[in-house]
Amino acid sequence: MKMKSKLTILLAFLLIAGNAFAELVRVDTPSSSLIIQADKGKKLRHLYYGTRISDADAANLKAAGAASLNAYPDYGVDPSGEPAIAVVHADGNMTLDLVVDAVSSRKEDNADVKVITLRDSHYPFTVDVCYRTSPAHEIIETWTEISHSEKKPVRLNRFASGYLPIRCGNVWISSFYGSWANEAQVEAEPLTHGMKVIKDRDGVRNAASARSEVVFSLDGRPAENSGRVIGAALCYSGNYRLVVDASPDKNYHHFLAGIDETQSSYNLRPKELFTTPVLAISYTDKGLGELSRSFHRWGRDTRILHTDRLRDVLLNSWEGVYFNIKEPEMDQMMADIASMGGELFVMDDGWFGVKYPRDHDRQGLGDWTVDTRKLPGGIPGLLDAARRHGVKFGIWIEPEMVNVGSELYEKHPEYVIKAPNRDLTYGRGKTQMVLDLSNPKVQDIVFTVVDTLLTKYPEIAYIKWDANMPVRNHGSQYLSADNQSHLFIDYHRGLAKTLDRIRDKYPDVIIQACASGGARVNYGILPWFDEFWTSDNTDALQRIYIQWGTSYFYPAIAMASHISAVPNHQTGRTMNLKFRTDVAMSGRLGMEIQPRNMTEDERQQCRRAIEEYKSKIRPIVQHGDLYRLLSPYDRMGAASLMYASPEKDQAVFFWWKTESFCHKQYPRVKMAGLDPDRTYKVSEMNRIDAVPLAFEGKSFSGRYLMDNGLEMPVSHNAPNADEWASRVLLLSAE
Ligand code: DGJ
Repeated sequence: MKMKSKLTILLAFLLIAGNAFAELVRVDTPSSSLIIQADKGKKLRHLYYGTRISDADAANLKAAGAASLNAYPDYGVDPSGEPAIAVVHADGNMTLDLVVDAVSSRKEDNADVKVITLRDSHYPFTVDVCYRTSPAHEIIETWTEISHSEKKPVRLNRFASGYLPIRCGNVWISSFYGSWANEAQVEAEPLTHGMKVIKDRDGVRNAASARSEVVFSLDGRPAENSGRVIGAALCYSGNYRLVVDASPDKNYHHFLAGIDETQSSYNLRPKELFTTPVLAISYTDKGLGELSRSFHRWGRDTRILHTDRLRDVLLNSWEGVYFNIKEPEMDQMMADIASMGGELFVMDDGWFGVKYPRDHDRQGLGDWTVDTRKLPGGIPGLLDAARRHGVKFGIWIEPEMVNVGSELYEKHPEYVIKAPNRDLTYGRGKTQMVLDLSNPKVQDIVFTVVDTLLTKYPEIAYIKWDANMPVRNHGSQYLSADNQSHLFIDYHRGLAKTLDRIRDKYPDVIIQACASGGARVNYGILPWFDEFWTSDNTDALQRIYIQWGTSYFYPAIAMASHISAVPNHQTGRTMNLKFRTDVAMSGRLGMEIQPRNMTEDERQQCRRAIEEYKSKIRPIVQHGDLYRLLSPYDRMGAASLMYASPEKDQAVFFWWKTESFCHKQYPRVKMAGLDPDRTYKVSEMNRIDAVPLAFEGKSFSGRYLMDNGLEMPVSHNAPNADEWASRVLLLSAE
């Protein structure tokens, strides 16, 4: 009897302890809430993601008809849906039954991290579902940490970073497909039943085709200034997969994002921690524009380096001389960019290789020794010249790659990615290979490329870090036979470790992420970088489209945008210099041209543009808020956007003609982002017209400008004008 009552008490205690929390977990940003139900011993339930709500409304979410779907769907007990996680246990069991075990929170700098620990009901297998927010940002970062203490490795077949149910309705999805020289093309479509999969399996340059960001517009066709939208950016530099599964019998689309697991299942050892990449999500009811501004603020504050510094105006040598690097030309280019007011010169590909000189793209990668035939004074000579001309100096490298024709490959063929019993498949120049960064020795080699340059020549202020081929021939000469499927993941872990070492030692150097143009535009790689090369396509007209798509998630400070020669080297199109300049000035301004081939008038025009950019609009473009006004994708004949300073006392308005037809009616563009109650004086920048615009020097209220805009003449009254008109207006509050 005594024994029985003790047992009853114990049972009652266990029941109470078991119910110790039936918790609504709130993950709040200043204006949004994600609410999850974490009841101990039960499945984790997603209840709500939307406008920030009160505790009282949160308590009634279920009564109101909340989704109440598994917040991190596990494969097994109900195998019908798309799982976020699927494993094979050490004993061969293919199911998981994850239930809530604990909820905890911690502070990380200025951020709050909430962790919900899920534990399998039978196996010692754990998933921490993590959410990070900070009071300054509208972004929720979510990821998972997976571990176990089973007897042998557990095979992870699925391991998404996050899951989000999206209520069916008139939902549209915007995604960004692309290819070399045509990156970040915006595609918006209604979300219908079936599967929508967005993925990139390049292995190295994982923004090469599709981008790992999407926007869900919940109130129909996406709009800039209205409607509920959810943006999601998977922050990962390797293979990724975003999936929307619209299951027919429920009211929800199911969105999952994470590493692409194709041939990448992972053998997780007991006690090893597998951390999935961050999935950054944001919600607003104010449309695409506000969503972009939220991502830009968060990106500038937390995911891109040195955004407190304004970016230098630079000249890059690539389109000017290609591989034809020679000391006199480098000297001349430095003198020219300095004379036009530029601040930095970047020597691109072609400067290295002794036994295998880099005279073309078929040899030399791997041998980062100066070719003294081309540069007798070596890098010290170039640094002297830069000092003499009063510009900083930057240099191009592609340290993850090697050519067959290289001393590195001769010595170490075992360092390249290659499957056993297969001939090598080459990339660029039909001789390029990817170094196997899963191998710590290769990580050392890549680190040493940068370390040697920066230790010997600490004056190098800027590095352009390029990567120009995908993983081919999936196989690692370093990883064991059992772990070949780890290659894609371990490559990017190796890259991250190497970049950590570089940044620990060289926190200040500016590094550009380039990968055949914009194939590394991703928040997974940017934390070690300062900017990206937006595209190898420098054609001003096509750049409007590429930069427009890129601007959905990435801020202008990171978006390298260069004035180049005509006919354009990628499209063959000829456009007047003002247009080319006006497009380049809407991003991080630079030049990609042989200045020697420019006329004195053209140099003067660029000198003035650079001067105006530096003295008037650089902080507005690089630190301001973006307002997209008229999309080139709407095919209205023109495109327009503007940036406003956070204080709204300064703004810069860009307008570009994108189609040229006689008597076409171009829309009048309403401005945005101004203070309606302030008055702004308007002045045109980069003016080429003989006669000033009618509104030059006039003042208008912010309200008038935002309600009506100003009429843009669609042609120029200038000697060098062609059919491509453009305008840049500075608006200064009085
Ligand atoms: C590809 C880059 O995107 C170009 O800008 C240039 O750096 C070349 N590589 C050099 O090989």
